[in-house]
Amino acid sequence: MKPEPDKVKHVAVIGAGTIGSAWATLFLAKGLEVTVYDPAADCESRVRSFIDNALPALKRLGLDDNANCEKLRFVDDPAAAVADVDFVQESGPEQLQAKRDLFAKLETTLPAETIVASSTSGLMPSALRDGRIKPERFLVGHPFNPPHLIPLVEVVGGPDADPAIIDWTVAFYTRLGKKPIRIDKEMPGHVANRMQVALYREAVHLVLEGVATPADVDAAIAYGPGLRWAVMGPHALHELAGGGGGMRHQLEHIGPGMEVWWNDLGRPDITPDTIDKLVDAYQAGKPPSVQELAAERDRLLLALLETLGAARRTDDEAVE
Ligand SMILES: NC(=O)c1ccc[n+]([C@@H]2O[C@H](COP(=O)([O-])OP(=O)(O)OC[C@H]3O[C@@H](n4cnc5c(N)ncnc54)[C@H](O)[C@@H]3O)[C@@H](O)[C@H]2O)c1
Repeated sequence: MKPEPDKVKHVAVIGAGTIGSAWATLFLAKGLEVTVYDPAADCESRVRSFIDNALPALKRLGLDDNANCEKLRFVDDPAAAVADVDFVQESGPEQLQAKRDLFAKLETTLPAETIVASSTSGLMPSALRDGRIKPERFLVGHPFNPPHLIPLVEVVGGPDADPAIIDWTVAFYTRLGKKPIRIDKEMPGHVANRMQVALYREAVHLVLEGVATPADVDAAIAYGPGLRWAVMGPHALHELAGGGGGMRHQLEHIGPGMEVWWNDLGRPDITPDTIDKLVDAYQAGKPPSVQELAAERDRLLLALLETLGAARRTDDEAVE
């Protein structure tokens, strides 16, 4: 019998690179027992060092009373890792066949009711679970980097999804403090990444066309619409932009002009030449190192999450 989502005690993290390490950190912070499998020789030291760096931020956001780093263990066999767990989060390489092979191994020992969620950025559940004995329990639980901080998780069940399995998974992520959304129809890249790459395509085009530097294109998001997007999505914002007439007025009023821009958007190809031009243009702005950039991202993200978390809690209390 699968436990209720709020009674889960033991989870497995399969694949512990950038994303798996962050999932392991989050699960530990929420008081769960975590078993990790990753074939890399330096896996344990990498994960432990990731946790040491990430824990201060999670402490600020609030650790579970049962959080304890001694609940972390490492095993060298994927089937052994999942043999007695209540939930599996898979974050191995983004290669369809590698994930399929992994799922086949997990299935040999997986408890009958345990769900396996893949962090895949864009592979579809129907392809991932093809050939499994109980395919509907293999689904997508796609986080956003860094998943120990960013709340969104996209839950994709694909065709023939079992609604009870989707409900359980959504409830489990919610219990972890995440913001799961249900994706009703599978598509490559799910929802958020499709929107993200649509924006990135134009960001690349603008730099290649010499319209603005990478730093200014980035500032156009971070200091402009990005601030609004941290609190509301494009549909709600269009409802607001239409004033008293709402979305209908906005679309009738601005829609035709917007269509002209849509038709003018760029379609760059990611060729070696494109990559050279982008990297050179980015480096010309003398950016900080990757480590400095990551520290800055996490510092500002934490401030934003604390502020938004407090404001949303206040809103919820006002509603109650
Ligand atoms: N990096 C991101 O921004 C991001 C965001 C959301 C989702 N994802 C998804 O998460 C998954 C992992 O991405 P990542 O960025 O952490 O990659 P990564 O390269 O940092 O980590 C992958 C890990 O998988 C391990 N691995 C290799 N073979 C394995 C196997 N057979 N079984 C288990 N583990 C194995 C590697 O040793 C490595 O530690 C991918 O599916 C990716 O699409 C990535």
